Amino acid sequence: MDIFKSVLLFQLVLYLISTALAQNSSCSYKEFPGYGIDGSDIGGVPGRTTDCCALCQKNPYCVAYTWEPYDGGMCWLKNDTGPMSKDSISGTLSGFVSPGPKQTYSLIKKYAAPNFFDDWWFDTRDGKAFGFASNADNKTAWDKGLVGYQNGKVYIGVDHTTTIPNNTWGRLSPRISSLQLYNAGFFVLSLDHVPVGPYANGSGWHSSPVWSMFMMTGDQASNGEFDFYKAHNPVDVANSMIYNNDEALYGKCSLPWDPKKYANISGWADNELMQEGPHGTSDVPFNKAGGGVYAAQWVHGSFIKVWYFVKPNIPADILNENPNPNPGTWGTPNGYYVFGDNCNPEVVNNNYLVLYIAFCNPPVTQECQDIMRNNPSNFQDTYFLIDYLKVFCRPGENCWSGNYTLSGQ
Ligand SMILES: *[C@@H]1O[C@H](CO)[C@@H](O)[C@H](O)[C@H]1NC(C)=O
Ligand SMILES: *[C@@H]1O[C@H](CO)[C@@H](O)[C@H](O)[C@H]1NC(C)=O
Ligand SMILES: *[C@@H]1O[C@H](CO)[C@@H](O)[C@H](O)[C@H]1NC(C)=O
Ligand SMILES: *[C@@H]1O[C@H](CO)[C@@H](O)[C@H](O)[C@H]1NC(C)=O
Ligand SMILES: *[C@@H]1O[C@H](CO)[C@@H](O)[C@H](O)[C@H]1NC(C)=O
Ligand SMILES: *[C@@H]1O[C@H](CO)[C@@H](O)[C@H](O)[C@H]1NC(C)=O
Ligand SMILES: *[C@@H]1O[C@H](CO)[C@@H](O)[C@H](O)[C@H]1NC(C)=O
Repeated sequence: MDIFKSVLLFQLVLYLISTALAQNSSCSYKEFPGYGIDGSDIGGVPGRTTDCCALCQKNPYCVAYTWEPYDGGMCWLKNDTGPMSKDSISGTLSGFVSPGPKQTYSLIKKYAAPNFFDDWWFDTRDGKAFGFASNADNKTAWDKGLVGYQNGKVYIGVDHTTTIPNNTWGRLSPRISSLQLYNAGFFVLSLDHVPVGPYANGSGWHSSPVWSMFMMTGDQASNGEFDFYKAHNPVDVANSMIYNNDEALYGKCSLPWDPKKYANISGWADNELMQEGPHGTSDVPFNKAGGGVYAAQWVHGSFIKVWYFVKPNIPADILNENPNPNPGTWGTPNGYYVFGDNCNPEVVNNNYLVLYIAFCNPPVTQECQDIMRNNPSNFQDTYFLIDYLKVFCRPGENCWSGNYTLSGQ
């Protein structure tokens, strides 16, 4: 073979190799020049800026990177996208990486009309009623029209026709729980309407008549509880909260940093165990906007993140029913709970989902009780109207962990 031919051959081989590399480098990311992600390091690999994305996708826990320019460049792989801060080292940049195959969510369960209620049971057990709510059983709920389907949507409301006499306790309201137990997952609740109702004038939040919840919990205290959405009128913020039933076992579970640094919240309480979403994410303003989407990403060993989206600001991958939505592109969450040294991830485990409209956080004040007993038509708007609740999972993740057996009821 003469020299000319072998050079040509060599170039052909080079061309084939580079095409193969280019085909596999379709790694997409969103870049943040000048910013570094604090902490969350799961490894450092020498490389150019353009190498970081693919290096990240190869690691099942990597969702982002920070590149620093020293020693020819270093990709710091990150298992979290925040908190980010301006970096003083010139040339530093960060990227949020689109998920590789091992990081991609797909649908495992959709709860919607016309068979939404086939997957839920009505919890009427003593001790599960809250405040002035009287938990309706399946038959009562259907007979009285407290649950049903309306124009292809799921309706969950409360008794709004009965005046409650002084010798009777409680206004009827269903508390429903899913037959499926979860230990991780990505939960998306799309709804047009959250329960609203009469306001109390007096004396603090114990007087608030309407308390609505979308949460997960279990029969045992050791299952813990996480509220994806909790609200009480007249406050127009959606709240999230983690219940730590055993500090000695699970750790404090409060956040080591100011939660406002990495969650877009209007406030927090109880050592950051409760975080309040932005104003407008619940109550009358949410309904006036036509509703929205409450979503939560639960990565069992790592974190729970919560987002509250109000129409029309819904992520594109929800609007177009993308079968593989990517919360990594959704930006700053509205609630953020990190597991690790300070919090054993088993603080919540193997839980059913719960939808519930409760009344008057105990101790029930006389004012709240009076509001609840009288003027039943004030509770006409005390209902959820749900498009769907979807659960997504990633390969190898144990999301749907079991089935609830009704014998315990
Ligand atoms: C590119 O990806 C394909 C399939 O994922 C794989 O078979 C192939 O070996 C990869 N090529 C290179 C150069 O990494
Ligand atoms: C609940 O009630 C509805 C309507 O009466 C009925 O169709 C359904 O089978 C009941 N479900 C259970 C679990 O009893
Ligand atoms: C019910 O109790 C309230 C508060 O004690 C009282 O004001 C009201 O008159 C009572 N209603 C009836 C019908 O007895
Ligand atoms: C609260 O105050 C408003 C106006 O002052 C009044 O119309 C309403 O009846 C009061 N509500 C209650 C529950 O006392
Ligand atoms: C926080 O949320 C509010 C209300 O949804 C929004 O207007 C604002 O742009 C958000 N801020 C950030 C930093 O994401
Ligand atoms: C990220 O990885 C670190 C180190 O392994 C770990 O301590 C931390 O809990 C992880 N954080 C998240 C959000 O996964
Ligand atoms: C739950 O029950 C269904 C059948 O109803 C079964 O196919 C599934 O494997 C069960 N899942 C778990 C996690 O036990």
